[in-house]
Amino acid sequence: MNQPATQFVGAIPEHYDIGLGPVLFEAWGHELARRAAARDPGRVLELAAGTGIVTRHLRDQLPAGCELVATDLNAPMLEVAKRKFRPEEQVVFEQADAMDLHYDSGAFDLVLCQFGVMFFPDKVASHAEVRRVLRPRGEYLFTLWDSWEANPFARTIHDTVARFFPDDPPGFYQVPYGYHDADEIRAAALAGGFAEVTIQRLELPVKIGSAENFAQGLVCGNPLHAEVLARGGDPDAVREAVERTIVTEVGDQIVLRILLAQAS
Ligand SMILES: C[S@@+](CC[C@H](N)C(=O)[O-])C[C@H]1O[C@@H](n2cnc3c(N)ncnc32)[C@H](O)[C@@H]1O
Repeated sequence: MNQPATQFVGAIPEHYDIGLGPVLFEAWGHELARRAAARDPGRVLELAAGTGIVTRHLRDQLPAGCELVATDLNAPMLEVAKRKFRPEEQVVFEQADAMDLHYDSGAFDLVLCQFGVMFFPDKVASHAEVRRVLRPRGEYLFTLWDSWEANPFARTIHDTVARFFPDDPPGFYQVPYGYHDADEIRAAALAGGFAEVTIQRLELPVKIGSAENFAQGLVCGNPLHAEVLARGGDPDAVREAVERTIVTEVGDQIVLRILLAQAS
């Protein structure tokens, strides 16, 4: 697959983990792992595990005997993830495309995916694969960002970056914040073979802490970085502008609004 929005490679994983992880992904990772552990599963598969933020919470919260397999399309993301675990901790890391899983049918009790589904070009194919590798009545929990209107900080960041390239603004942030229609999400999961799908909207206030780190993550911790370079832009100048926007417009606290889907 060659789509730029899915290329989390090079220096991106480090910037993602340090800059974006604490603000955007940690708290929801804890919450998703809490919901997973409450189901007391015996075998869990995580898709689009990235730098292992949810994986770490899963290993901390799941019963010790529960087998955990963490996968991602991009091996460099998993290399950062692996560093978060001691050798004696059970986690299997494997590169896997969520639309083409190499696991046996019925192999897992629970499948999880935090903020990954919006990057899968064929949502129905990925849901069909998840349904196939789940045991009968097994569950799939996945989260998605709500819209720019519900997450205005993301719109503000997009606009800041777009001002550098008025004729051809980078489109990266439209991918993670562009798949939030509950009917569309439910229809894709049903088309993939799930019988029941419930979707709820959740929100969580978080502190940004370091505007410098967050700006670095927002510009260099995802494929936006490649879009800036492809347009002849200077990532440092864009990062400085984003940092100024965080300090002057966004503030230190934001509310993260998401959709949590449960399919079985
Ligand atoms: C926003 S990150 C989320 C990572 C992690 N779940 C978290 O919460 O920090 C999106 C992830 O989706 C992965 N990804 C993109 N396309 C994928 C695909 N087709 N199959 C599996 N992973 C994919 C990327 O490599 C990236 O790690």
